[in-house]
Amino acid sequence: MSVQLTDEQKMIQTMVRDFSREVIAPTAAKRDKTKEFPSENLAQLGELGFMGMMVPPEYNGSGADTVSYVLALSEVAYSCASTAVVMSVHNSIVCESLMRYGNEDQKNKYLKILATGKKIGAFALTEPNAGSDPVRQTTKAVRDGNHYILNGTKRFITTAKNAGIIIVTAKTDDTKKHKGISAFLVNSDNPGCQVGNLEDKMGLRGSDTADLIFDNCRVPVEDRLGAEGEGFMIAMTGLDGGRIGIAAQSLGVAKAAFDAAVSYAKEREQFGRPISKFQGIRWMIADMATEIEASKQLMLSAAAMKDRGEDHTTQASMAKLYASEMVNRIVAKALQIHGGYGFIKEYPVERFYRDARVFTIYEGTSEIQRVVISNNILRDKRTP
Ligand code: CAA
Repeated sequence: MSVQLTDEQKMIQTMVRDFSREVIAPTAAKRDKTKEFPSENLAQLGELGFMGMMVPPEYNGSGADTVSYVLALSEVAYSCASTAVVMSVHNSIVCESLMRYGNEDQKNKYLKILATGKKIGAFALTEPNAGSDPVRQTTKAVRDGNHYILNGTKRFITTAKNAGIIIVTAKTDDTKKHKGISAFLVNSDNPGCQVGNLEDKMGLRGSDTADLIFDNCRVPVEDRLGAEGEGFMIAMTGLDGGRIGIAAQSLGVAKAAFDAAVSYAKEREQFGRPISKFQGIRWMIADMATEIEASKQLMLSAAAMKDRGEDHTTQASMAKLYASEMVNRIVAKALQIHGGYGFIKEYPVERFYRDARVFTIYEGTSEIQRVVISNNILRDKRTP
């Protein structure tokens, strides 16, 4: 069943489309080259209400639904995938987890500032030896009076260097598996939290990805998010929403590559006519458009399920799995249609090709999405 967009959802989509194509897109290639963090874009997105999209107005948010949010996010990704990933982790995982598990004090202290975009959120779950299997993380949080003391290293953390507030998971009880993990809100200026190695990435080069090192990092007990032992659940529910966000990023980049390929195919002449007149190209365009539409419907239906308060774990994984694999097929075809020009940096498809590659990896690899989907079907729980 396709999702019927409301007038408000369409209006939000148009507004973000106009803003991001006019303001964000023109500097995307430069950011890819210089690795400059898109602070300016994010500040403007914050002013327009897109950094606390699903946060209620009483906490400075826009109170929009998830459908509006994913439409907005895919428009930002169309213009700049680096800006989109920061927006995605911030909204889908950090703000949402605070809304879901934060108490009133934490919402006032952290969510209100995050929702304005004046501080950016990061989410630190992954470790050097715990990626797909976060239960085996070794960062520890030991209680010491009114504080916890955190020690350990987190890896591949999106926005690690530029975030103001970080949700960090750590083991509070080694004898328990996932129930021994807790979550903490850590200010990035905490002297016990240092940014380590900054990765030099293939794509999404405007977004920083780095290690975070916790060395006797003292976190007040009141900054524990949720109860002790709820950290894994907080991460998993956050990732459910996050994965719909990755589907949105995939859709945005796919659409950008598709539009570039269509206009190039109409302009480029070979054998005395535009290459769009050749069946080989026409069929590629037909397949690309069909796959993009299928991804969009999966993304919207997962978002609508979340908005209706339904269990959306399986649908989110399906949307993420299909859209992230789809965009990698689309960028490859778009590059092929461009021929030699697709292989040089003068044309944006080369950047789209690199940016899309991580979508099948972060927020759960394609293999993990297949684990989630098949587990939920075969255990007869959370069946779509
Ligand atoms: N919602 C709520 N609860 C959930 C859940 C969900 N989506 N998924 C699992 N749980 C609960 C289960 O119900 C279970 O709870 P009980 O024991 O109380 O019943 C508990 O969590 C453990 O579940 P599993 O036995 O299924 O856990 P598992 O250890 O087998 O692993 C997994 C599950 C799906 C493999 C999970 O570990 C996973 O998603 N791994 C991938 C991690 C990931 O996506 N990392 C991305 C890093 S973040 C990132 O990339 C962000 C960025 O910066 C861009």
